[in-house]
Amino acid sequence: MIILGIETSCDETAVAIVEATRGTCSVRANIVSSQVALHAQWGGVVPNLAAREHLKNIGPVFQAALHEAQLGPNDINLITVTNGPGLIPALLIGTSFARSIAYAWQKPLIGIHHIEGHIYANFIGKRDTTLKFPILALVVSGGHTQLILMRDYLRYEIVGETLDDAVGEAFDKVARILGLGYPGGPAVARLVTENKSKVYDVTLPRPMFKSKNFNFSFSGLKTAVLYETKKHPELLQDKTYLADVAHEFQQAVIDVLISKTLAAAQKYNPKMILLAGGVSANQELRKQLGEELHQKLKDTSYIIPRTSYSVDNAAMIATAGYYRWQRLSPTEKSNAQNTWKTLSTEANLPLL
Ligand code: KG4
Ligand code: ZN
Repeated sequence: MIILGIETSCDETAVAIVEATRGTCSVRANIVSSQVALHAQWGGVVPNLAAREHLKNIGPVFQAALHEAQLGPNDINLITVTNGPGLIPALLIGTSFARSIAYAWQKPLIGIHHIEGHIYANFIGKRDTTLKFPILALVVSGGHTQLILMRDYLRYEIVGETLDDAVGEAFDKVARILGLGYPGGPAVARLVTENKSKVYDVTLPRPMFKSKNFNFSFSGLKTAVLYETKKHPELLQDKTYLADVAHEFQQAVIDVLISKTLAAAQKYNPKMILLAGGVSANQELRKQLGEELHQKLKDTSYIIPRTSYSVDNAAMIATAGYYRWQRLSPTEKSNAQNTWKTLSTEANLPLL
């Protein structure tokens, strides 16, 4: 089965082609056109500018994906597209494009929740028999920070989430405070890796560390970084100081994410723990979470996506589409032929 995936929920225009053979999704093409340089001058994503860029890029990116996979319309069995959550002007470019080709090519179309895509990025290149439920997913992206329990395919229960900022958002805001530019996550991570020596004694809080639930809060941590730097304006030109603040901030985030994931795992006894979303590209988080889980939960496997599938891409959308398609009834599959007429686009699409 060959699946086309389309993703335009934020600032990447992405089209991918995934082939599912004997329960394994392999990527035949994965084209991502990033708008980072455009939005960097504004310090964040500007929705209308993002939409214009998607409109400009979606055709060429689509063509490049077909070319790379050496496939044409007749080879495609299913079209999948992110239909939420995300920025509406941006999402609409992808969903309109997907609906048009589904109509023109007379193919089934299914809408995919962006976070479901991030979760399934973990199963690209793996047999479907790898999935062992219950699964606990730690989702850390620019818009979401959630602990999601999956007791079965397509069954999502949010057991914890951020009460304010998402982790990626906190990274981006802290990067701005430290004058590191946009996007902040990779910039903060790079500063930490390149400056390992600790000179300044910077201490930041671990928010919600001791709370009894699995929720998070990162807005206070970001404010603590702001106060810390305000106390020492004379040090803002000192790269070592900035690196020490960045290091302590990143470690505070990692400590909280690990402790909440462990606590949720103790309650729900998952067979697998997954890391998903753009912040899963963070090497320290990948490593430290892995070490802790390995030590404390011997019978739980820990899966992380390849870093190229951590950040937004369409291969994850096509892969999630494959798993969703497998679970549709024959009637639902035949109805999907008409989805091009009805597919909705929702900024706050719930994960169902
Ligand atoms: O999943 P994603 O690509 O887009 C959303 O769905 O939001 O996540 C983007 C977020 C941004 O906030 C970015 O700063 C963060 O992921 N990010 C990172 C790293 N790479 C991307 N955060 C920390 N460390 C990284 N290496
Ligand atoms: Zn994302």
